[in-house]
Amino acid sequence: MNIYNAIKEGSKVLKENNIKFSDLDCEILLAKVLKKKRKYLILNLDKPLNRKNLEIYKNLVKQRSNGKPVAYLTKKKDFWNSEFIIEEGTLIPRPDTEVLVEATLELFKNKEYANILDVGVGSGCIILSILKEKPHFYGKGIDISHKSVGLSELNAKKLSLENRVRFIKTDVDNFCNGKYDLVVSNPPYINSAKINYLEKDVKSFEPKLALDGGLDGTFKTLKIIKKASTLLKSNGKLILEIGYDQKFRITSLLKKNGFYINNIIKDYAKNDRCVISTKIN
Ligand SMILES: C[S@@+](CC[C@H](N)C(=O)[O-])C[C@H]1O[C@@H](n2cnc3c(N)ncnc32)[C@H](O)[C@@H]1O
Repeated sequence: MNIYNAIKEGSKVLKENNIKFSDLDCEILLAKVLKKKRKYLILNLDKPLNRKNLEIYKNLVKQRSNGKPVAYLTKKKDFWNSEFIIEEGTLIPRPDTEVLVEATLELFKNKEYANILDVGVGSGCIILSILKEKPHFYGKGIDISHKSVGLSELNAKKLSLENRVRFIKTDVDNFCNGKYDLVVSNPPYINSAKINYLEKDVKSFEPKLALDGGLDGTFKTLKIIKKASTLLKSNGKLILEIGYDQKFRITSLLKKNGFYINNIIKDYAKNDRCVISTKIN
């Protein structure tokens, strides 16, 4: 079978299983099997696949048709300006979260040094993207998940940033180390009752620990706000990702805990996604 037919047949299987971007997903999976860029596939549609590669590819298509996300199959995901290693058990970075990186870089554009804490670091995508852009910034990333801490360490090495960041496995409640110019976080913020209504790719494959924000979705965010108020330097910034419908609840919690709201930024789909605030005093 040649590349063209493999993509066509794979895509048919995915479509039958209601996978949205079936052609694109098959191209990405086949490119992974052949260890080539997608461009190579398009330029070599007539090339035959050997039996071994075809078997590996069919197996990946089967897993994708069951809903497993492409990033868990390819074990990588582009975020901001870098490619991150991805493993099951850790949240796949979302394009919406790039808004937090962009906001941080804008806010700190005239600052040469800053000490940053990323709470719920996951793959390390937020703090590592910031450190990559700001060569004299340094910081820590914490996560309650052992897997996430290990993956962040791997990504830090891949991006040659391991000398400017440390990752610690801890519950945010128990962390009380250092003083920071910025606390940044994409907390679990989905309402527990809504998790079962998420897309199958998300609810069946991504870790609940990374999604579940308790009864009204703000349980973990409140913990982070309280912790940030003790760990931030005076006038330090807290940058939080929020659910599309959480603007009023989160800004109210921030104000109650001694923060001034600087700005609320929308994501690419024009939903409120990121709150920038300053610790007053
Ligand atoms: C929404 S994910 C964000 C991951 C990554 N920062 C990103 O944006 O892709 C939330 C992360 O918070 C971590 N987490 C959940 N509860 C926590 C807690 N009590 N203390 C520290 N980390 C926690 C989860 O393990 C998960 O990695």
